[in-house]
Amino acid sequence: MSVLVLGATSRIAHELALRYGEAGQAVAVAARDLEEAERIAADVRVRTTAPCEAFMFDALAFETHEALVSFVAERLGEIDVAVLAFGDMGEQASSQSDFAAAHRVIDSNYTGCVSMCEHLVSGMLQQKRGAIVGITSVAGERGRQSNYIYGSAKGAFTLYLQGLRNRLFKSGLTVTTIKLGFVDTRMTFGMKTGIPIASPEDASLAIFQAQARGADVVYYPWFWAGIMGVIRAIPEAAFKRLSL
Ligand SMILES: NC(=O)c1ccc[n+]([C@@H]2O[C@H](COP(=O)([O-])OP(=O)(O)OC[C@H]3O[C@@H](n4cnc5c(N)ncnc54)[C@H](OP(=O)(O)O)[C@@H]3O)[C@@H](O)[C@H]2O)c1
Repeated sequence: MSVLVLGATSRIAHELALRYGEAGQAVAVAARDLEEAERIAADVRVRTTAPCEAFMFDALAFETHEALVSFVAERLGEIDVAVLAFGDMGEQASSQSDFAAAHRVIDSNYTGCVSMCEHLVSGMLQQKRGAIVGITSVAGERGRQSNYIYGSAKGAFTLYLQGLRNRLFKSGLTVTTIKLGFVDTRMTFGMKTGIPIASPEDASLAIFQAQARGADVVYYPWFWAGIMGVIRAIPEAAFKRLSL
């Protein structure tokens, strides 16, 4: 049995790999930067003594996804838990003016997730157990001028996870949607948030615990559930006048 962490070079994902290692699970850390993934795997092995191996993963290389799932299972055992931590915010201005940039953001946050999840789920259905954890964003809850390309891809991923959970419920597989607010990582580096920002360590604990209890949807930090309740309640006629 193994845990696959996709997008392992994210600090949140690295912390999650350590948590699964500490729990005694064999961990597969997969990233497009294989050298960095090797360093993370070594760190997990040294600090937790759990088996951990690095794998090459590019969300945009759809044709490689099926083989990756089989390879991980071959090396470390059937995949019990898969965490989709990869994502790319891109730059809104570039995404507006250059469709190739928008396409990359959509594929990195949505299409690549669908491709991986469908391959993972086939294996999990055969073994009759498994958990998918999708890291999405509060940005996917309402379109805003400042990041609607990334937001719409995350929103699509959130909706996809909801449907997948619905499909898999009777099979006993769990699908956990993590709606992250601000976490202190490369993605938010230099951002003036005006809202408290969580640490990757705390975020990873919340994600680990949510998966362990088979939660459906979790906001982290928790107060984002309230913030998004207010944001969603603003009538469109007023919302479109805001510079958000
Ligand atoms: N930080 C926040 O406030 C926040 C808020 C909401 C949601 N999130 C989500 O949380 C997750 C983790 O992000 P983070 O905050 O830790 O940011 P991050 O450090 O930028 O991590 C993003 C990860 O995605 C990987 N990635 C991007 N494009 C990829 C591709 N085509 N193929 C494979 N891997 C790819 C990156 O790999 P490289 O190292 O190779 O670039 C990196 O491992 C993402 O899904 C992000 O959208 C973050």
